[in-house]
Amino acid sequence: MDRSALADLKNAIRTIPDYPAPGIQFRDITTLLGDARAFRRAVDELVQPFAGLKIAKIAGIEARGFILGGAVAHQLSAGFVPVRKKGKLPHETVGMPYSLEYGSDEIEVHKDAVSRGERVLLVDDLVATGGTAEAAVKLLSSLGAEVVAACFIIDLPDLGGADRVRRLGVPVRTLVSFA
Ligand code: PRP
Ligand code: ADE
Repeated sequence: MDRSALADLKNAIRTIPDYPAPGIQFRDITTLLGDARAFRRAVDELVQPFAGLKIAKIAGIEARGFILGGAVAHQLSAGFVPVRKKGKLPHETVGMPYSLEYGSDEIEVHKDAVSRGERVLLVDDLVATGGTAEAAVKLLSSLGAEVVAACFIIDLPDLGGADRVRRLGVPVRTLVSFA
């Protein structure tokens, strides 16, 4: 993607100071999602390196990763696996606690959501500390999936999350960064 298209994507993201806690610069993608051109571009650009890589499933992280992950799954003709916050999935689950930039939580996946050796692409809107993505990679790997890569629209490089995910052996793609 050329520089001006990337700049357009970045400009479509709104920043809310001190949300949800003092000192946090919240990168709000609702403005990007509401802009038809920016939304399409972001999805097209996220999937670009993964077409033809035989991705069987997209794992999207609640909640913003559901919006992007559904669109990415459609583009790649892949299935979709919801990685949900604790207590939301109805069948047998595996779960993992994690901490993120402004708190802590636990995510869960259905035990039968992926099968052994299945090629999975992890999708979320943003990587900050990487705590959420690391927990998701570990959960999916514990079920035998091969996490081929993780992709995010936004990287907050000062928090080191993308490198944390790369250290798990998972390649990371991000489109724009806010330092
Ligand atoms: C946000 C974001 C990522 C996570 C990144 O989700 O969508 O999932 O934080 O932070 P980390 O890299 O420090 O782990 P949030 O937990 O706020 O949930 P939401 O999408 O439901 O708002
Ligand atoms: N998740 C973690 N940190 C975030 C931030 N600064 N903006 C939006 N979502 C986030």
